[in-house]
Amino acid sequence: MYGFKGKTIFISGAAKGQGRAVALAFAKEGANIIAFDLGEKLCYPRYNDGSCAHLEALKSDVVAAGGQCAVFAGDVRRAEDVQRAVEGGAAAFGTIDVLFNNAGICAYGYSHELTEAEWDAMIDINLKGAWLCGKYVIPVMRAQKSGVIINNSSVGGLRGMNRLSHYAASKWALVGLTKSWAIENAAFGIRVISIHPTGVNTPMNDGLAMMEGTTPKEIAERSAGNLLPVPWIEPEDVADSVLFLASDKAKYVTGSQYVLDAGLLTR
Ligand SMILES: NC(=O)c1ccc[n+]([C@@H]2O[C@H](COP(=O)([O-])OP(=O)(O)OC[C@H]3O[C@@H](n4cnc5c(N)ncnc54)[C@H](O)[C@@H]3O)[C@@H](O)[C@H]2O)c1
Repeated sequence: MYGFKGKTIFISGAAKGQGRAVALAFAKEGANIIAFDLGEKLCYPRYNDGSCAHLEALKSDVVAAGGQCAVFAGDVRRAEDVQRAVEGGAAAFGTIDVLFNNAGICAYGYSHELTEAEWDAMIDINLKGAWLCGKYVIPVMRAQKSGVIINNSSVGGLRGMNRLSHYAASKWALVGLTKSWAIENAAFGIRVISIHPTGVNTPMNDGLAMMEGTTPKEIAERSAGNLLPVPWIEPEDVADSVLFLASDKAKYVTGSQYVLDAGLLTR
């Protein structure tokens, strides 16, 4: 146990994949979850596997795991949606102790072939969305003089990626955001860290496979460069790292990049 009983965690992109696994891991500790994700009407078929968000299902699973949950449907790109979720969540639970900036999309395309709309969607969801969540959560954390922010970047935030220039650019930018937020907020007891997973077995890969007309396994094999003999890691592996980094066991970790890449970046 990491001591999160009664603590409150705001998670963007909570309905699926890593966000969902992180929500359930905190719930098992007895934490309160503010779950933010696209509602059904807001799903984007081009970037989504089509199954849309399942916030209500997450809520009952969080409660069954021992936590409490308030769900908010919205788009991380829209300030009013994020503000409503932060204010509503803070009102429901009294504090926000951890922000997991996790909502994101991924899509292939050579840089010179991307449309302006595709570029904007990638940067707005992966980068502006993270900034907006911080914009509204940081004042809450400053007022309580404590907090941890974990930005979900990628190995793509530490290297170049073929046909993923817009994705990599958005993920590198999260490193700058992480380091700057760490500097701005250290005096208020707030730590800020970026995490950099290798490929993770989530619905994101289903969406990529759909775009390419192939299978998620083929997508994983294509990008396999892990040193350890695994095609990808599981969302629960990411959750293990997030809980450790958000806990007091990592109390001197801030401004840093935490790599969980199965050795990929070693090559
Ligand atoms: N899957 C991977 O291989 C991998 C590897 C490294 C990093 N990441 C990053 O991890 C994060 C989580 O990805 P995942 O693998 O769980 O993918 P996922 O597609 O399973 O989950 C992403 C979640 O974000 C939500 N979301 C997307 N756009 C949104 C918006 N505009 N507003 C609110 N919510 C939105 C989706 O509805 C979904 O629930 C992303 O930032 C991704 O870039 C993924």
